[in-house]
Amino acid sequence: MANNKTGFSSSFGVVMAAAGSAVGLGNIWRFPYICGQYGGAASLIVYLLFVFLIGMVLLMTEFVIGRRSGYAPEKAFPALAPKRPSWKLVGLFGMFTCFLILAIYLVISGWTLGYFWESMTGTLASIADDGFADHFASFAASTWKPVLFLVVFLVFTLLIILGGVQKGIEQVSKLLMPILLVLVIALCVRSLTLPGASKGLDYLFHPNFALLTWKGILAILGQALFSLSVGMGAMIVYGSYIPRDSNILKSATWITVCDVAIAVLAGVAIFPAVFAAGQDPAGGPGLVYQVLPVVFNSMGTVGTVFAVLFFLLLSLAALTSAISLLETLTAWLADKGMKRNLAAVLVSVAVAVLAIFVAYSFSGGPLSYITLGGMNIFDWVDKLTGSYLPPIGALFTVIFLGWVMKKEDIHDELSNHGVLEISWFRVFYYFLVRFVAPAALLVALLADLLT
Ligand code: PFF
Repeated sequence: MANNKTGFSSSFGVVMAAAGSAVGLGNIWRFPYICGQYGGAASLIVYLLFVFLIGMVLLMTEFVIGRRSGYAPEKAFPALAPKRPSWKLVGLFGMFTCFLILAIYLVISGWTLGYFWESMTGTLASIADDGFADHFASFAASTWKPVLFLVVFLVFTLLIILGGVQKGIEQVSKLLMPILLVLVIALCVRSLTLPGASKGLDYLFHPNFALLTWKGILAILGQALFSLSVGMGAMIVYGSYIPRDSNILKSATWITVCDVAIAVLAGVAIFPAVFAAGQDPAGGPGLVYQVLPVVFNSMGTVGTVFAVLFFLLLSLAALTSAISLLETLTAWLADKGMKRNLAAVLVSVAVAVLAIFVAYSFSGGPLSYITLGGMNIFDWVDKLTGSYLPPIGALFTVIFLGWVMKKEDIHDELSNHGVLEISWFRVFYYFLVRFVAPAALLVALLADLLT
């Protein structure tokens, strides 16, 4: 590593930490409702294409930039192209994106933690089936509940960052990721054994191309990038912690497979249950807070256990992702000379302020009257971080690898200095990195602008 940072201890640590970053609210909260909005399996097919052809390419791109330079994004780009210092702007753009994502992430994680708490205390179980929409609305619009829970969530995240890269992030990810997998599989089994479950599977795996619009395609592309945590520099930071002898292609493949598997499993856990309880699968962002509790309540006592497990699963998945966002911003400031712990605390305070603002602007909240083009601040941050900023960041990042960095350097980095045989390099470099990924990103962005 360029500056003797402590990195991850092994390839397994890399995969667990990066999969921890990738698997999050995006997989369990956003993926199912995007799937629901844009044609079930039709969006799943497009999603898989984007994930493997563009997302995974970006993941490898960011790993190369991070490990080669040893830096967080602002310094990483200029370090690899010293004659083009202005590329640091792409790094800074990424930091801006991470900051916004972390803010909205904290809000949603706060709701999730709140629901976890309410499922434990029996509050959720005591609500009548037709009362969940109101309950969610009043929870999210409350002046203190979202703030209390987002701050608690942030404190957990901060404590892990203060523990360090290996003893904090890596250890926690190695512990939580397997738990997450077990939880999601347990939920799938329950969901699939409900009467009428096959309707949900049909919905998820039967394509309806009529619902797949250009807007939908950009949303799915944004989702594919968001879900793999690429396009904002987070994986550049984790890349800078990858041991020299780790195989980047192998790690990236495992991370992508984990990410896709958990998203699909989340769909399998959610849709059959939603159909079995006669709920609306296109429930939008409120799906997991308004629709799933009805499903859990319809299962009696065992439903309470599943509600607890589900919101625990979602909170833990969100935690390992929030960790990587806070770590990215911390590493960026630490690179600029600030003490790591101080940087982590400062970022936390700043992002907490923005997060409270975002929380209050959610529909029905005290600041929800501030709107622009018919959307409140929450909607804007969700739209920007979900659909627009990651594809823009990704476009420049992949252009940097394909057209600015030296091809020999990339080959050297991916082959671990010639140790690994990488016969796939030509396809990766001449086909995917230089043409397919930039063209797809550009077309999706332009198509959205023009339609
Ligand atoms: N990949 C996360 C998810 O799907 O929820 C979101 C995310 C985490 C995006 C970390 C960016 C990031 F740096």
